[in-house]
Amino acid sequence: MRRFGLIFGGLALAAVVAGAGFAQAQGAFGEVIAGRQASMKQGGGNMGAIKKALDAGGDLTGVATNAQGVADWGRKMASVFPAGSGPESGVKTNALPEIWVSKGDFEKLAANLGAEADKLMAALKANDKTAATAAFAATGGACGACHRTYRAKI
Ligand code: HEC
Repeated sequence: MRRFGLIFGGLALAAVVAGAGFAQAQGAFGEVIAGRQASMKQGGGNMGAIKKALDAGGDLTGVATNAQGVADWGRKMASVFPAGSGPESGVKTNALPEIWVSKGDFEKLAANLGAEADKLMAALKANDKTAATAAFAATGGACGACHRTYRAKI
């Protein structure tokens, strides 16, 4: 009886330790994944604000900072996809494993978003609607180009 108790206690302890390890690993990537998802949403919000200003047909200089936000995000983006933060992390994510198979290409697409958003920012600052409309389409295209290959269909 005592022997059984010891074995049982040992198993229970092992389960607790394994559980804590799992929670810790999930916590490490959980934060980075939640953070990048929030930043993506913010990028969508910035694009929405620019679209609204373009549709309204008024002054565009006020939304140049939104383009700046998208450009900064494009340059930072690759750093918030560390190895191990894909579906294998056990955290709910729409990041596909292909990101880490073709990390160079993924980084190029993120940098491309930064470059397109820079052009958009310049056009908005100049209050040039024709140039801003074209640059907005190109920036949106840069979002889509990456999602097509590296984000799960949602
Ligand atoms: C270099 C690749 C890449 C680029 C460029 C990119 N995205 Fe994403 N996006 C992703 C990936 C990968 C995910 C899934 C992230 C996850 O679930 O961990 C994602 C997720 C999202 C989401 C869902 C976030 C959530 O709440 O789960 C939105 C919204 C989004 N992106 C908007 C944008 C917009 C807008 C742009 C352009 C301004 C953009 N993305 C540019 C790769 C990219």
